[in-house]
Amino acid sequence: MVRFHEHGGPEVLRIEEIEMAAPGPGEVRIRVKALGLNRAEALLRAGTYIETPPLPSGLGLEAAGLVEAVGAGVAGFLPGEAVSVVPPRSMARWPAYGEVATFPAALVVRHPPQLGFAAAAATWMAFLTAYGALVDIAGLRAGDVVAVTAASSSVGLAAIQIANRVGAVPVAVTRTAAKRDALLAAGAGHVVALAEEDLEARLKGIAGPEGVRVVLDPVGGPIFEPLTAAMARGGILIEYGGLAREPSPFPLFTVLSRSLTLRGYLVHEITGDPVRLERAKAFILDGLASGALRPVIARTFPFDEIAEAHRFLESNAQFGKIVVTV
Ligand SMILES: NC(=O)c1ccc[n+]([C@@H]2O[C@H](COP(=O)([O-])OP(=O)(O)OC[C@H]3O[C@@H](n4cnc5c(N)ncnc54)[C@H](OP(=O)(O)O)[C@@H]3O)[C@@H](O)[C@H]2O)c1
Repeated sequence: MVRFHEHGGPEVLRIEEIEMAAPGPGEVRIRVKALGLNRAEALLRAGTYIETPPLPSGLGLEAAGLVEAVGAGVAGFLPGEAVSVVPPRSMARWPAYGEVATFPAALVVRHPPQLGFAAAAATWMAFLTAYGALVDIAGLRAGDVVAVTAASSSVGLAAIQIANRVGAVPVAVTRTAAKRDALLAAGAGHVVALAEEDLEARLKGIAGPEGVRVVLDPVGGPIFEPLTAAMARGGILIEYGGLAREPSPFPLFTVLSRSLTLRGYLVHEITGDPVRLERAKAFILDGLASGALRPVIARTFPFDEIAEAHRFLESNAQFGKIVVTV
C-alpha cells in the first residue's frame, strides 16, 4: 500500500509491503484495479487537511476493483464482483491507495460493469459531492443559472453534467481561457475566464436581472465579492473547498440586502445519511446508465507512479479526474 512517514510533497509517498488484516465485521476487502485521486489526499499528505492522522498513514478516498473477501455480517457481495466505493469519512482509517483495500460494506457499490474500473473509480466523489450540493441542498431546478467555479475539477465537471441533467444553465468559471473550449464541449452553457473577464459583469449578463440563484465554489478568496454581487435575491452559495490562498472577504451588505445563504458543505453530509445517500446513488446510477452522466478522466498513471500522479494533480493542469491503475 501507499503510505507516508512525514508530511511533505509527492516524494514522501512510499509503496510498502504491509500485512493486511482480514476484513472486520461489516467490511469488504477489494482487490483494487483503479484509484481516483482527490485534492484531499494531497492535503492529507502535506499535513493541511481537516484530518491529521498519526504517521505513518495511508491515504486515498476512491477505488474500484473486485470483491476479495467479506467480514462477518456482510451479505449481498460475492467474491469476484466488480465494485467501487463511496468515499469513507476517514481515509486514514480506510485508505484506498493499495493493491487491496478494505471499506465499510455500506459504502461499497455494485456499479454498472460496462463503466469499467477507471471510470468507476472516478465517479463517486465527484458526482456525490456535486449532487449533494446542487440537488439535495440547493434544490437546483430547470431554468436556474448555476455558477460552478474550479470548473475543470472533477467535481466541477460533474456539477456541469448534473446541472444539464436537471435543465439548469451551468456557467463554468475557470482561471484562464486555456480550458474554455474543453469546458464548452463538456456541457458548460457559458464559460468565464477569471484572468481575462469581469466575473460580476459576465454573470449578470448571463443571468439577467434575476441574477444567479446557485453558486458552487471550492475556491473562496477574493472571488466571493463578484460571485455574491451577481447572485439573485434568496440565492445560495455552497462553499466546499479552500483552493484560494488569500483570505475570503465576507460580503456583508450583499448578503444582508439580498438574503443570501452562504453555506459550508462536506460530502459526508450525504454519505453519512443512508436515506440521502440512496437518493444520490439512484440519481447517479440512472444518469450513468442513460449516458447523461459520464466521469471525465484527465489522465491515467500506473500505481508505481503515484508520486507523479500527485504532482500532476497539484499542477492544476488537469481536466477532470486523475486515475491510477493498479
Ligand atoms: N467538501 C467536500 O466534501 C469536497 C469533496 C470533494 C472535493 N472537494 C474540494 O473540491 C475541490 C475540487 O476537487 P477535485 O479533487 O475535484 O479537483 P482538483 O484537482 O482539486 O481541482 C483542480 C482545479 O481547481 C482549480 N483550481 C486549482 N487551484 C485553484 C486556485 N488557487 N484558484 C482557483 N481555482 C483553482 C483549477 O481549475 P481551472 O483550471 O478550471 O481554474 C484546477 O484545474 C477541491 O478544493 C477539493 O478539496 C470538497
